[in-house]
Amino acid sequence: MLGIDLGTTYSTAALVVNGKFHYATDERAEACIPSVVHFPKAGAPIVGAEAERVRATDPENTIWAIKRVIARPLDSPQARRLQASAAFKLVAPGNANVKVRTRSGDYGADEIAAIIVRHLRERAQQRFGRQFTKAVMTVPVVGTARIEQEMVKIGRMAGLEVTRVIPEPVAGALARGIAGASDDGKPRLIFDFGGGTLDVSIVQNVDRAVKVLGVGGDDSLGGDDFDTAFARDVASHVWGHHKLDVSRDAILSDTIQRTCEKVKRLLSTMENARYFIREALGAAGRHWNIDLNVTRHHMAKVWLELVARAVTVAQETLRGALPQSALARVSLIGGTTFLPMVRTAVADSLKVPLDVENDPQTAVARGAAFLGAFPALIR
Ligand SMILES: Nc1ncnc2c1ncn2[C@@H]1O[C@H](COP(=O)(O)OP(=O)(O)OP(=O)(O)O)[C@@H](O)[C@H]1O
Ligand SMILES: [Mg+2]
Repeated sequence: MLGIDLGTTYSTAALVVNGKFHYATDERAEACIPSVVHFPKAGAPIVGAEAERVRATDPENTIWAIKRVIARPLDSPQARRLQASAAFKLVAPGNANVKVRTRSGDYGADEIAAIIVRHLRERAQQRFGRQFTKAVMTVPVVGTARIEQEMVKIGRMAGLEVTRVIPEPVAGALARGIAGASDDGKPRLIFDFGGGTLDVSIVQNVDRAVKVLGVGGDDSLGGDDFDTAFARDVASHVWGHHKLDVSRDAILSDTIQRTCEKVKRLLSTMENARYFIREALGAAGRHWNIDLNVTRHHMAKVWLELVARAVTVAQETLRGALPQSALARVSLIGGTTFLPMVRTAVADSLKVPLDVENDPQTAVARGAAFLGAFPALIR
């Protein structure tokens, strides 16, 4: 049975074969497939890395971060925030949930999500050479109460019967071996900081099954917000130096946001990085390019409030579940935990060892696949 993690920025399908994890990889041999759908002038929607590439030239018809607005009305904070940074248009007939307007018509957020899940199923079928009709899917621990039903429906629309829906951090705990024989049985905090949400769970192995002692999170806090805060900083620099309002240009705004994401990643391994967009400024003064030297030190200020909010969520979730002294460790999953300042802030505030891995972005899908193979792991 497939394990599927529909993420805000990346989605992954995993499978356990002979006790080992395998992924429905894409044409780049990557397990993390961008949760991006492009509607071309002719033909079927394009999903994943190819859609991400087209985003630069046709952002109005390239949909990203759709998970944020599943089962949300147009006037929800989630929809408003997405609309503020996306070039595609969100609409809602009457009081219904949001749809996205594309050149091929209006699509519900569930329909866009189902296009991504169907793509994962088809990739898996190609990769493993057989049909898949069932899946375990994952959901954030915070957010709309309807998300579980929505995920079952999205699976069905994509041709999959969703046999189980589990919280993302619990899946992450399974991937980190919490139900394994070598686990010490002490409570740990799973800190899952992805592209769109922060999901926190306190979990413990009791008699070789996962017991959830507490959950918390913030469904409006993720790596996308780090990109948006960074983009705002770049926009204010451009305004300050060139008196050019980048928000008036949808393609430039989108390019700035995507460049922020790339430079953010570089800053996870380097102290400083070059932020460069060729000929971004048109005829504004004599400066055509946006060309900045960005330091970790500077970004620590830009991201301070976001990191502080994330740490507060972890502390409050812990406080509601256990005395701090009972916590044994923190497992970091999700791509935003690559950021050194996130790691340091979590370690400093919770004062327990950090458990990190090389591949924190596939942990949730791995856990879902694991549960598909061993259903008794969660009672
Ligand atoms: N090296 C890195 N440094 C900093 N951030 C990174 C790095 N690699 C990935 N990210 C960020 O991690 C985020 C994606 O993480 P992940 O794949 O765990 O999220 P997701 O599962 O799609 O989202 P969610 O779980 O919130 O729905 C993106 O914001 C991406 O920019
Ligand atoms: Mg995730």
